[in-house]
Amino acid sequence: MIVLKSPREIEIMRYANQIVAETHAYLAEVIEAGITTAEIDRLGEEFIRSKGAIPSFKGYRGYPASVCVSINEEVVHGIPSKKRTIKEGDIVSLDIGVFYDGFHGDAARSFGVGKVSKEAEKLLKVTEDSFYRGIERAFIGNRLGDISHAIQNHAEKNGFSVVRDYVGHGIGREMHEPPQIPNFGLPGRGPLLKAGMTLAIEPMLNAGSFEVKTLADGWTVVTKDGRLSAHYENTIAITEDGPLILSEV
Ligand code: MF3
Ligand code: CO
Repeated sequence: MIVLKSPREIEIMRYANQIVAETHAYLAEVIEAGITTAEIDRLGEEFIRSKGAIPSFKGYRGYPASVCVSINEEVVHGIPSKKRTIKEGDIVSLDIGVFYDGFHGDAARSFGVGKVSKEAEKLLKVTEDSFYRGIERAFIGNRLGDISHAIQNHAEKNGFSVVRDYVGHGIGREMHEPPQIPNFGLPGRGPLLKAGMTLAIEPMLNAGSFEVKTLADGWTVVTKDGRLSAHYENTIAITEDGPLILSEV
């Protein structure tokens, strides 16, 4: 069942998601070549807790960290490590979730460190743009498939592929609520969009094939062909006035 949220509940979710957005802004400032992914996680967790929130991911199904850090061919769920150092030319995806006053916020950003390849630059831009193409369709009376299709269409038109094995999701008192939100699909299909739906829309785009696999650590998802992947996610609310992005500063 898709749980609709009241305007008051959406306000609380906005607050939780503001903390997510602020954490992203803070980490984007501190990340540079030479920092370890464990340090990124430590700083992120400290920042989240300083705002009176709890990192949603830590301990979720045994995930050991607060910030997912996924580099280059890593798609999602990279585990921070003291042995992994960010290098010039890497593309880094950070996925952050927080729990505040009974609700979750969830957002991901991907960016280049220093000078990155032309392909990387284009992948980053098309991934972010595909999110916006999706929410352009996030109006009451449309269907979920309209969002999915717009994301897929933009990605594929630009020569990239859309990950099939991981999808976006409803979000609220639980981090993962119905409905699942694929980044591919057909217009006019799926649940009708209603006021009060709160959705984490999260395109994951690959430079090569959409196929992915999970590493032996049980978490890190990588592209099978070893080519680049990028991730962009926001929590949004469907309102009478259109889509409202909750996780932007
Ligand atoms: N943002 C991810 C999602 O939407 C959650 C990361 S999974 C975790 O599904 F285990 F790291 F929490
Ligand atoms: Co999510």
